[in-house]
Amino acid sequence: MTKLWGGRFEDATHALMEQLGESISFDARLAPWDIRASIAHARMLGASGIIPREESDAIIAALEEIGREIDDGKTTWDMGLEDVHGNIESMLVKKIGEAGKKLHTARSRNDQIATDMRLYTRDQTDTLIRLLHGLQRAILSCAEKHVDFIMPGYTHLQPAQPVLLAHHLLAYFEMFDRDRERLAQIRRRINVLPLGSAALAGTPHPINREQVARELGFESLSRNSMDAVSDRDYLIEFCAEAALLMMHLSRWSEELVLWSSPAFGFIEIGDAFTTGSSIMPQKKNPDAAELTRGKTSRVYGDLLALLTLMKGLPLTYNRDLQEDKEPVFHASDTTQLCLAVFAEMLPTITFKRETLRKAVGQGFMNATDLADYLAGKGVPFRKAHQIVGEIVRYCIQKDKTLDDLGLEELHRFCEVFSKDVFNALNITTVLTRRNQPGATAPEQVREALREAREKLATHQ
Ligand code: ARG
Repeated sequence: MTKLWGGRFEDATHALMEQLGESISFDARLAPWDIRASIAHARMLGASGIIPREESDAIIAALEEIGREIDDGKTTWDMGLEDVHGNIESMLVKKIGEAGKKLHTARSRNDQIATDMRLYTRDQTDTLIRLLHGLQRAILSCAEKHVDFIMPGYTHLQPAQPVLLAHHLLAYFEMFDRDRERLAQIRRRINVLPLGSAALAGTPHPINREQVARELGFESLSRNSMDAVSDRDYLIEFCAEAALLMMHLSRWSEELVLWSSPAFGFIEIGDAFTTGSSIMPQKKNPDAAELTRGKTSRVYGDLLALLTLMKGLPLTYNRDLQEDKEPVFHASDTTQLCLAVFAEMLPTITFKRETLRKAVGQGFMNATDLADYLAGKGVPFRKAHQIVGEIVRYCIQKDKTLDDLGLEELHRFCEVFSKDVFNALNITTVLTRRNQPGATAPEQVREALREAREKLATHQ
């Protein structure tokens, strides 16, 4: 097998070296981006008079043909040719002969792979933004559909205060909205053209980098060729965002696992996103949520792999950088799959209105409001807190809820209670009174839903 770099070598490459050095088994998927970048490069070489126009035209036509053949699955990849670049160049030379050998003028695989990876990650970023949008739409529809469902809100996983289910769901809408914003910011830093940096120091050929940038949709040119061929910050940022996004999905997964357990009984996830047990016939397991939670760990691993890969690398390109591909591909694939699963799974979830409502009645979730009631009547809050604490202890002993207590009973703890206390304890009042922007009062949640709708419409 003739190597791209065979000239100065006498002996053949050891089979183990080939096995260690090949990346075609995982970078073949970069072919569409590699071809796009090569076409732009070839067009520029022709337009700048670096190679004859007929030859650049022939290269472009052949590359387009190779692209179609790859799409049709007609290609066999050769490990001896190392990577996607070596394989495509060899196909090109096979098709058009000597002219094909001119494509690599004024270019190195170092700026070539940097360009491919930027094009690839830019597309993956756009896909993630689109998938996040889809998930946010699903969350919003679900929140709107259950707009009057009341449920327990937790801290420490202990019953805390009642909230609207829609409010809980919109918390995830916010998380994914920040993810979307971050991706849009990362995209700007991805969208810089490294091509033209050549191996590390630039090229003596009169290239036109602006033309290539324009054709490939890059917003700017890299300003330092040494940085350009060895920078992988954008991949780290991409994986960091994937890890963060997965963390959000994983927290949600944890809740879905808990909520679908009969111990909570808040939801039932549709058959399409649950599985059974091979031994226990009664089981319906929330595997989609569990697997998402599990896969999150591996996406964290992708981020850590990249950070560790980079930490000891001197400028500029080092072959270690070939190892950046698999973590990025894995992080990207996993995050996309999990986002798609959640968007499809959410509409299959049945929320158990009565169970949720009943759960609100347990755990003294209106205790804060009882203390606030006393505070409103002039009792210092710290004292009110103490009094209500004693009332709760009394209720636990008597197996009662706060709503079961009559005025005489309440008076044993504090004289200040009067008839209006029953209204203060009422769950509807408890919710409605939390009427500040960002809080759970139905009026605020309706406003939040409206704003979320509007936001999605503008970010279409
Ligand atoms: N397959 C290589 C990579 O992924 C392409 C760049 C090779 N450059 C080199 N100087 N050997 O990084």
